[in-house]
Amino acid sequence: MSEVPVQPVVDDSGPTPEAKAAAHSRRSFLFKLSLLLNGAVGAVLAVPLVGYLLGPTTKKSSAVGSWIGLGPASQFPVGETRLVDFQSPVTSLGDGQTAKVACWVRRISAEQFQVFAINCAHLGCPVRWFSESKLFMCPCHGGAYYEDGSRASGPPERGLFEYKYKLAGDSLVIHAGEMPTLATQASCNEKPLIQIEPASTATSTRPTPWQV
Ligand code: FES
Repeated sequence: MSEVPVQPVVDDSGPTPEAKAAAHSRRSFLFKLSLLLNGAVGAVLAVPLVGYLLGPTTKKSSAVGSWIGLGPASQFPVGETRLVDFQSPVTSLGDGQTAKVACWVRRISAEQFQVFAINCAHLGCPVRWFSESKLFMCPCHGGAYYEDGSRASGPPERGLFEYKYKLAGDSLVIHAGEMPTLATQASCNEKPLIQIEPASTATSTRPTPWQV
């Protein structure tokens, strides 16, 4: 008598309700987890973008009207022109070294100064002071300025831009909340920024220290 082969029993009834519920809850958990991770990544990426978009408004409101100290007036001898730099008030923490702005300080007398933007009035290259010739020279296209900042020669159509300044005790402070350019004059309701006169008339129109 031959044996009848035993066929394996196949359970084709599908997953049990418990298994289906477990799979559904696992899928649901992974879906929520991916949403959470995507949200976190999106938030991290959005922070610098939002900072970039809102930066100009927050910087402007806090920077307008900023007076920045350049140090004791005693460090600027009468008759000399010296280079100093200051921390720009219109920058943020991440700007690093680029937040430093240089300017030339000329001391005319005990209480009379001129503080020039370092940028050439032509295309903005930094100008250098040569005490021997008493000229500011621009290395880019040969622009030259007299010691009072007025135009001497070359492509620039005007003299160097000047910061408003005042003395606070023994400290020389400048109005550094905005760059001293003609563009800022249009939107400025205050006293207009200083326009440098030609050398021939400069002595009679030289500005006095800015009044608070
Ligand atoms: Fe100074 Fe052109 S940028 S002369």
